[in-house]
Amino acid sequence: EKAGFDHFMLKEIYEQPKAYRDTMMGRVSEDGRSVVLKEIGMTAEQIRGIRKVHIVACGTAFHAGLVGKTVIEGLARIPVETDVASEYRYRSPIITPDTLVIVVSQSGETADTLAALREAKRNGARVLAITNVVGSSVAREADDVIITQAGPEIAVASTKAYTSQLIAFNLFGLYLAQVLGTRDEAFVAEVLEAMHKLPEQVEAIIEQAPVLKQVADSISTHNNLFFIGRGVDFAVAQEGSLKLKEISYIHSEAYAAGELKHGTLALIEDGIPVIAVITQKDLYEKTLSNIKEVKARGAHVLGVVNAGMEEEVGKSVDELFVIPKTLQLLSPTLSVIPLQLISYYASLARGNDVDKPRNLAKSVTVE
Ligand code: BG6
Repeated sequence: EKAGFDHFMLKEIYEQPKAYRDTMMGRVSEDGRSVVLKEIGMTAEQIRGIRKVHIVACGTAFHAGLVGKTVIEGLARIPVETDVASEYRYRSPIITPDTLVIVVSQSGETADTLAALREAKRNGARVLAITNVVGSSVAREADDVIITQAGPEIAVASTKAYTSQLIAFNLFGLYLAQVLGTRDEAFVAEVLEAMHKLPEQVEAIIEQAPVLKQVADSISTHNNLFFIGRGVDFAVAQEGSLKLKEISYIHSEAYAAGELKHGTLALIEDGIPVIAVITQKDLYEKTLSNIKEVKARGAHVLGVVNAGMEEEVGKSVDELFVIPKTLQLLSPTLSVIPLQLISYYASLARGNDVDKPRNLAKSVTVE
């Protein structure tokens, strides 16, 4: 059932173009100019009544939520808070009937996430679930459900489920923007057009797997590394770092690029690998100065950049990985792919059980 792949994780990385297509299927109008989410039962009036959004999830799904926050705030201008589900209930969150709580869960069975969902409902909030499993507990108990069409995910380390969650967030963000009028039709059409190109662009990245294997082989000889980024790139950096830790057991830390100098810079020593995600044009200059800081201390820097930025960034880094050109808003759906492949090959180089990393389970049904 691995269809010729050595591991489920690799198979699932390769299935992402299909997962993107399937998650978009039936959710875009025929003329390609608007999002259609028939599964959302909220009326326009209810949507206009949303004053704040809480996104609650665990692990990789939480990292999708960090991107979701940027998407929803950017497109719909509604304030969004993000919480890991195991913390949410215990901080007395201010949940009001005008709060929309979005729970994100690949399996739909994660106990912490389910408990957060129930807490939200007890307080009168409306709950939207983004999940990969029809009929799961989370899907059954939420008011509205967006099913990510990633197909079954077997490897413990999530890849296609995460990226499908990003697609779902983009669709939902655009949907909110349509209803609220925060973005015009031309804008929505432009984003949808760019989203339709993503599957091919993911394929183009995957074709460069041999280059990423080389990067991973050299990383696998280290015991520590850093991922840095700003804004949405920081969210992707956090997911890249988690993925690497989960399956290669190499310690890494994801840092907001501008925050390094306020502490962790002391840990940058000669030869340490630093992976910098830089896809946002308006932020890259600042990140470049952070790269100079780490390079001055001997770091070896790989820059993951949006096409069109290779010249500006190329001079400041040791290696460059260029993702195909897309809108800044959508860049996480591409920039995470090389990080997934680096983690996969690093785990392989270390001789680990890639699909079943030690001490982790695919779905955790205890709190
Ligand atoms: C963890 C898994 O225990 O649960 C992670 O090991 C996963 O890979 C997390 O991201 C959340 O799972 P789910 O099914 O709620 O998305």
